[in-house]
Amino acid sequence: MVSNATPTAFETLQATLRAQPRTWLVTGVAGFIGSNLLETLLRLDQRVVGLDNFATGHQRNLDEVRTLVDASQWARFRFIEGDIRELADCQAACAGVDHVLHQAALGSVPRSLADPISTNAANITGFLNMLVAARDAGVSRFVYAASSSTYGDHPGLPKVEDVIGKPLSPYAVTKYVNELYADVFARSYGFQSIGLRYFNVFGARQDPAGAYAAVIPKWAAALLAGETVFINGDGETSRDFCYVANAVQANLLAATTPEKEAVNQVYNVAVGDRTTLNLLFALLRDGLSAQGVDAGVQAVHRDFRAGDVRHSQADVSKAARLLGYVPSQALRDGIRLALPWYVERFRPRA
Ligand SMILES: NC(=O)c1ccc[n+]([C@@H]2O[C@H](COP(=O)([O-])OP(=O)(O)OC[C@H]3O[C@@H](n4cnc5c(N)ncnc54)[C@H](O)[C@@H]3O)[C@@H](O)[C@H]2O)c1
Repeated sequence: MVSNATPTAFETLQATLRAQPRTWLVTGVAGFIGSNLLETLLRLDQRVVGLDNFATGHQRNLDEVRTLVDASQWARFRFIEGDIRELADCQAACAGVDHVLHQAALGSVPRSLADPISTNAANITGFLNMLVAARDAGVSRFVYAASSSTYGDHPGLPKVEDVIGKPLSPYAVTKYVNELYADVFARSYGFQSIGLRYFNVFGARQDPAGAYAAVIPKWAAALLAGETVFINGDGETSRDFCYVANAVQANLLAATTPEKEAVNQVYNVAVGDRTTLNLLFALLRDGLSAQGVDAGVQAVHRDFRAGDVRHSQADVSKAARLLGYVPSQALRDGIRLALPWYVERFRPRA
């Protein structure tokens, strides 16, 4: 059947990129979002340079992408093992690049509370190195991973880009400083950047291991292993969970938009919805049972976690208006797409 629906901005962009491939740098390429960006770009026959120091990323993520694309597409990828805290590594990675998608950072609010110095080094010094290297290499656009944590203690819902509160963690400070530096580089050097404030992104290759794992992979793996799931607080804390394909779409639109008005801005990247932790737990349990996994475990409530905001929900109308962003998956669809990856890897072998 031939569809006569108007193509979305992202569908049009994908056709344009296929016809005229470009060179992209993805920092943090061995991580969760970075490896998903890599997969999409290679599937679109783009040339990709990747930079990562494996601080929290994994070679296995790169190996997995290799199995998901054609050999000819994989041949367009060049990996540099390097550290954004080293200016020379950033310079090597930026050479000859059209667009930068800067994802490398130390994520996690609790990690930053435990070790603010390491978070600062990667997220602020590393970010500044990347800005300088990208500016000097003459890249056309620098898109970077900002964060919903920048809304801090502001109680307003849904979150709109120009109304923020005070940061609640060292991590939130670093992500806000990124925005300030990007803004100053625009004013001082005419440098083009766009910040994407991600809200709780989830999907395949998000690491469930370790003390700083995000809630969806952590709970999915725990349910699969038959382990106790802990809910911090009363479970009525809510988040705007965003399937990774939406974040990928926002990156590609931001990197390529020809609209002057759209550049040197920050955008919320989410769905525009709000789900409590209690409901999320039920959705994951039901999602697993739909895949034949008996996840009969009950959740146990414990104390609220320091530095967490109570509610979070994005207004995504700015990204819709200026970038043509249309989230392709809501939470339930995203869970359905993401869970098989966890089932395959974390279901106990009979
Ligand atoms: N996942 C989310 O929900 C979310 C929400 C808001 C913002 N973010 C931001 O998005 C970006 C990607 O997050 P993610 O969830 O994919 O995390 P991730 O930990 O899976 O990926 C981060 C990658 O950066 C690499 N890295 C860290 N320090 C580095 C350094 N000094 N030099 C080179 N590489 C380094 C890590 O090895 C890892 O591969 C981060 O900037 C994060 O702060 C993520």
